[in-house]
Amino acid sequence: MSSSPTKKLVIYYSLEGNTKLMAETMAKAIDADILAIAPQKEISSKGFSKYFWGGSQVMMKRKPTLMPLSLNPLDYDLIIIGTPVWAWTYSPPIATLLEEVDFSGKQMALFSCHGGQNGKTFLHMKAHLPDSQVLDTIDFFEPLKNHTEECIQRALDWARHLSQ
Ligand SMILES: Cc1cc2nc3c(=O)[nH]c(=O)nc-3n(C[C@H](O)[C@H](O)[C@H](O)COP(=O)(O)O)c2cc1C
Repeated sequence: MSSSPTKKLVIYYSLEGNTKLMAETMAKAIDADILAIAPQKEISSKGFSKYFWGGSQVMMKRKPTLMPLSLNPLDYDLIIIGTPVWAWTYSPPIATLLEEVDFSGKQMALFSCHGGQNGKTFLHMKAHLPDSQVLDTIDFFEPLKNHTEECIQRALDWARHLSQ
């Protein structure tokens, strides 16, 4: 009797496209479904004010209301979550996701995109996933601007390795 295939999902939030590029690369590599999450009220990605508004959301531990999810993460066995790093940790929309979805019993993997300081992003995410099996983590330094092809290759290799 053959066992049922692993259902794979890549969930991500991205304000400026870096995390989106890595998420789409991974999903294609392993034939996973993809779920972009977005807050109902997005901050502007233009200018310096994004650091102020985004950073203060993190500091105040805001969990913004998300647009309805178009897929149910609980239908999947292996779930990859990707986030930009904001104020040395995961972004507020991912905070909402981790609070609203119970990932207990799931196989998980985490990735981030950042500007050089990943901080405690994975440590903090893992603290919200005590009953999940976190298989691995990987981070990328501004993949849209820095060594894009190399980042794409690392994302492909990592995702393929995870799903073997
Ligand atoms: C509000 C805000 C806070 C940020 N804080 C950090 C940080 O603490 N460390 C870091 O390395 N990069 C930080 N960055 C840079 C982003 O993590 C980086 O540009 C990332 O690639 C953006 O991903 P995205 O394009 O998917 O939104 C911050 C960016 C924003 C908008």
